[in-house]
Amino acid sequence: MIPYLTIPFSFSKKTLDWAKNKIAPIVDDYQKNAPLDAALVEFHNGELQDWYDSNVYKEVLGQLNALGITEKPTIQFFIYKKLEKMYPFPWRSNPHIDTYKGVSEVTTYRFNVLLDGDDDTEMVWWNIHDRQNDSRLHTVKFPRPDDGTKFSVRCQVVGDTTEDRWKTAGAPDWSATKLAKYNTWASFVRTDYLHALNWSGKNPRVILSLRFSESWDTNVEVLRRRLFPMASSLAIGPASAVVSTAQQSSVTQG
Ligand SMILES: [Fe+2]
Repeated sequence: MIPYLTIPFSFSKKTLDWAKNKIAPIVDDYQKNAPLDAALVEFHNGELQDWYDSNVYKEVLGQLNALGITEKPTIQFFIYKKLEKMYPFPWRSNPHIDTYKGVSEVTTYRFNVLLDGDDDTEMVWWNIHDRQNDSRLHTVKFPRPDDGTKFSVRCQVVGDTTEDRWKTAGAPDWSATKLAKYNTWASFVRTDYLHALNWSGKNPRVILSLRFSESWDTNVEVLRRRLFPMASSLAIGPASAVVSTAQQSSVTQG
């Protein structure tokens, strides 16, 4: 198993301009006012409808449909601030599993499109995913970014600090640094396995993230076998996962 798949992906110029203009004031507001350095940004009532009605969504669905991915995903955005002081290297963010409706539903995978920011941000995964039985995982309560008096929950690794949690999880099993290139390629990333996005804070970062709930195996793995029949028939393990998809996607680009 490789927890990501990179494919060529771009919007038409008009659509990309619309998306960037539409998201700019939200990013600006986030940079100035949000309490957290990075977050899955909540939209207020109706604001997201413009995105569902837009050519952005139409072009996403069109391109994914052509590849056999037919689930209509939920539109989300991740916004990361430009920080005055970068995080210390190596950058290690909080390992977690993506859930929604609290922790009752798991986000199986996302299709992440870079709208702004560095294109070499590292994502890492661990072969840890059994939320019910793995004693390294638990559910924690945390204050909501939009209203600190309300709480939300998430599934993450036990430990008081991020450093403790990385110790408990051990070395990641997979890593990728070429998941996105601005309006050139984008990636499916598995989010029901423990993962972390090691962002530095050097530059602001905006990700259009399409959230899926169908299974990775029957969607992305099937697509991988169609796109790369030769590579998929080889026994590719975690050690070679970093090179495999990045190389394959650049071949596809060329
Ligand atoms: Fe995540």
